[in-house]
Amino acid sequence: MTTTEFKPEPTTIVIFGAGGDLTWRKLTPALFDLYTDNWLPEHFKILGVDIKPLKEDEFCERVRDGVTKFARTYKENEGKLGDFLIHVDYLCADFKNPQEIESLASRLTDIDQEWDTQANHIFYQATPPEMVETIVQQLAHAHLNRDRKHARIVLEKPFGHDLASAQELNGMLTSAFAESQIYRIDHYLGKETVQNILAFRFANALFEPIWDRRYIDHVQITVAERVGVEHRGAYYEHAGALRDMIQNHLLQILCLVAMEPPVLFEADEIRNRKVDVLHAIRPMSQEQVIHYAARGQYSEGWIQGERVNQYRAEPGVSSNSQTETYAAIKLFIDNWRWQDVPFYLRTGKRLPTKVSIMSIEFRPVPHQTFPATALASWEPNRLIAYMQPREGIHIDFLAKHPGPRMRLSPVNMHFTYQEAFQSSPPEAYETLLLDVILGDQTLFMRDDQVEAAWKVITPILDAWQDQGRPNFPNYTAGTWGPEMGEVLIARDGRSWFEPPVIEDDEAGMGGKKEVAPEG
Ligand code: BG6
Repeated sequence: MTTTEFKPEPTTIVIFGAGGDLTWRKLTPALFDLYTDNWLPEHFKILGVDIKPLKEDEFCERVRDGVTKFARTYKENEGKLGDFLIHVDYLCADFKNPQEIESLASRLTDIDQEWDTQANHIFYQATPPEMVETIVQQLAHAHLNRDRKHARIVLEKPFGHDLASAQELNGMLTSAFAESQIYRIDHYLGKETVQNILAFRFANALFEPIWDRRYIDHVQITVAERVGVEHRGAYYEHAGALRDMIQNHLLQILCLVAMEPPVLFEADEIRNRKVDVLHAIRPMSQEQVIHYAARGQYSEGWIQGERVNQYRAEPGVSSNSQTETYAAIKLFIDNWRWQDVPFYLRTGKRLPTKVSIMSIEFRPVPHQTFPATALASWEPNRLIAYMQPREGIHIDFLAKHPGPRMRLSPVNMHFTYQEAFQSSPPEAYETLLLDVILGDQTLFMRDDQVEAAWKVITPILDAWQDQGRPNFPNYTAGTWGPEMGEVLIARDGRSWFEPPVIEDDEAGMGGKKEVAPEG
């Protein structure tokens, strides 16, 4: 993506929590990639803010290190790093101290004066969630929230831990910023392949006519990770797989798969169609949870020839933790398009491979023309979107097996990004940061979307709470999860689509270990 078509307006990105992992690993490398691909305006500044007493050149050193290790375009643009770092500044400040926020305000005014313009001021919260309220209040106190056109705030999940806390958080945010200034990140929406679900469905005449209950038997969404919780045990203990992944990433994918066609490719139109899906999800009663939801926690096991610890032995995790590292749920969407079509969603840590897929299984033909002998290897038509790795789309169908007799065999057609475009897709954070700079909210979560998603999963969280202590650990690291997860789908006479196990190197990770971003 190299362009000189247009340039966004002058922009200062203030990163709160600039000394942390997210800034180092994701944000500044993504900004470097945008810079080298020529997407950033001539006037832009990255102003890192943190309580850590770093000197400006120490902060620049950290940015340099992150870019060198993680930026997608670093290898071919090594020579541009020095110029990029000219745009990086640091402000050591205690967010709780109003005077120090005043000094941020005057720094921003100075930058605007130097550029002789009113620049965009983007406030990126890369801090732990408990800091958010203080920062928002301080920004409001210093009137940095006032300019509705230029002031924007960016937030990372978690957006609450249940419906009530999400409503409280949204209330606090909207008391200081208008919804049009708030950018809630779900990094899955920045993934090229997740956005491609929209292109695939609504740019082609071929698929949409069969995209409903008349032709589709069921839909599966699997987001599997090979990693455990790594250094994030303390956060994860209060989250678990349902909150950490299903409430946001998997439900967002589901919305894109199930939404009605938008009239326009425009932020609120798309977000309205997505929220319609969430509102149409059939509420689960406490009694249904036992059949419609499964949870698990990993015990020790083997992954890629390495012995790995059980979850309860991970740093920051209680030795009798009840937190689920695997969750699977079955949902129904009560509308004309999807009535009675099950959507099966599952996610887990320490599964055999890292893969995110959406798979649609179609119904059999209404009348079987071919004799039973021709159908010995019959398989349903299936469409599989690989969101990562080996990004692409596969379609499984039946063809006549060569030979004198009529015999049908499953075959497939596939498209991969790598083959079609000869390039790997940009990182999600590149897309999302550019959209914030451009003021495009399409890929960000609106307050009502967040709350509607919590409404879907809160009954499950409540039922699990009431069910008491689960029998954890209940799956071995390196396997596809607990038996209950299999039972959830097997009870309906179906099974999980099992993606191929991909070795790290094959997964395009260049031998780098798969690492979870901050949640
Ligand atoms: C984050 C979760 O939102 O997504 C992590 O908090 C998880 O637990 C990560 O590892 C997965 O993201 P990706 O892009 O690697 O699939």
